[in-house]
Amino acid sequence: MKKIEIINAFKAYRSAGKVVQALANVSLTIEQGDVYGIIGLSGAGKSTLIRCLASLVPLSLGRILFDGKDLSLMNQSQLRAFRLQIGMIFQHFNLLSSRTVAGNIAYPLEVANIPLNKREERVDELLELVNLSSKKHVYPALLSGGEKQRVGIARALANHPAVLLCDEATSALDPRTTREILKLLKNINEKLGVTIVLITHEMEVVKQICNKVAVIESGSIVEDGPVAEIFADPRHTTTKQFLQNSLHEIPPEFLKENSPNRKLLRLRFKGQVFSEPIISEIVRKFNVNANILLGWIDRLQTVSMGTLVVELTGSSQGISDTLSYFSEKTVHYEVIENGL
Ligand SMILES: Nc1ncnc2c1ncn2[C@@H]1O[C@H](COP(=O)(O)OP(=O)(O)OP(=O)(O)O)[C@@H](O)[C@H]1O
Ligand SMILES: [Mg+2]
Repeated sequence: MKKIEIINAFKAYRSAGKVVQALANVSLTIEQGDVYGIIGLSGAGKSTLIRCLASLVPLSLGRILFDGKDLSLMNQSQLRAFRLQIGMIFQHFNLLSSRTVAGNIAYPLEVANIPLNKREERVDELLELVNLSSKKHVYPALLSGGEKQRVGIARALANHPAVLLCDEATSALDPRTTREILKLLKNINEKLGVTIVLITHEMEVVKQICNKVAVIESGSIVEDGPVAEIFADPRHTTTKQFLQNSLHEIPPEFLKENSPNRKLLRLRFKGQVFSEPIISEIVRKFNVNANILLGWIDRLQTVSMGTLVVELTGSSQGISDTLSYFSEKTVHYEVIENGL
């Protein structure tokens, strides 16, 4: 059982006489087997959080427990043993350019004093896992971005870590290569049971492999939970902003002000396929007009999520009856303001 608990974590940096509060009261529990996404804008504190998790920098206040053991109370040899349980991959891969692919993957094994024959065996195993056996003796400069990240992943897994920390691991890759790398990570999670903490600024990444997500803003978690729940019913403005897909823009002429006789709504249907019947039903029942502007389906890990953006017009009574009907039918709806 490998569980990570972050409890009331604070981290302040002091530089040039100024104090920057990078983490402010962060609490989070990552269970074994999770693929936990942490999403936030630039400067939100994501890298800080992952560096603290990796015990590369200490917290200013608060605790991180790994299987109930407090990182800050560990002595040097306990910390070394802990770090062997943690693998890390980075946005810019951080490979050693003077070493071949095999040499890069062998590096953490050398640091851990694994004997040569075992090392070679393990390197071959890892090359196979990330499907790079043919590039064993190649130098990083000759690899594509996706291949470099696969070397990074193999290197991170060398010492059989329980947890893999990924800091923007796909941000430097194109969408297709991103999907490939995410698929590989998911595979590693499922086959080897490695817990993954994944930092990103893209909801698309969360959607593809995470089962849980936390949204971080200005050093605080503003919303967290199972991905399907957050997608179905996002509460915080920042979460909603991350969820709005630029591919699905509402035509600007529809972004006029809402009134009692006109509402712009986003409806979400979890696990159901698109619900045309519900639209024809409200038109019939409440004598309102429903103009469907956008509709799409997001495929998450375990469920599909339908979204419909609808302009609703009619009598104020008809509109308020429609909204009550949605609540009664547990259709999540959200009145769209300012294009959100
Ligand atoms: N070593 C440091 N010294 C001083 N301030 C720092 C240091 N590292 C980070 N910060 C500050 O802490 C805040 C959080 O930084 P952090 O790198 O954790 O953000 P991030 O969410 O990873 O951003 P990005 O998406 O750009 O990587 C920022 O205001 C940053 O300027
Ligand atoms: Mg960062």
